[in-house]
Amino acid sequence: MKGQPLIPFLLIAVAGIFLMLILSFVGLGDFGEEAEENGNGEENGEENGEDAVEVGEEVYEQDCLSCHGENMEGDTGPAIEGQDPDAVITAIEEGPGSMPEGLVDGEDAEAVAEYVSEGGGD
Ligand code: HEC
Repeated sequence: MKGQPLIPFLLIAVAGIFLMLILSFVGLGDFGEEAEENGNGEENGEENGEDAVEVGEEVYEQDCLSCHGENMEGDTGPAIEGQDPDAVITAIEEGPGSMPEGLVDGEDAEAVAEYVSEGGGD
């Protein structure tokens, strides 16, 4: 029979089409995941301090406000509004007088130094 050899060929073609369909579904699934990841990424971007002053404010309220007052006007500790950022970082690292040393570090320290030096960003 002449038609016979065509059958395996057709099977392979059909299998190929199925494979492509399956792969394209998998591909679409991946796109969905990527879109979700991008959504989360944006949230993280906001938190990770596109706005360093906002992070600084959070750190200040958590770790400094109790001693330096709501508006850095001083309380147990002296007024620190507008201090040079380097001086603020030094104070954080060394803990002058009765101020505890190492309250925050790294990016948090830089952010709060910025926040203090700008007098709260207003
Ligand atoms: C437990 C209370 C306390 C906390 C919390 C605290 N401080 Fe202080 N801070 C002090 C005291 C007291 C001094 C003054 C020390 C001295 O010179 O005798 C001081 C001094 C400073 C100075 C130097 C001021 C100057 O004019 O010499 C800076 C800057 C400062 N603190 C920043 C910060 C920052 C930023 C934070 C938060 C990360 C913070 N402090 C948290 C008590 C505190």
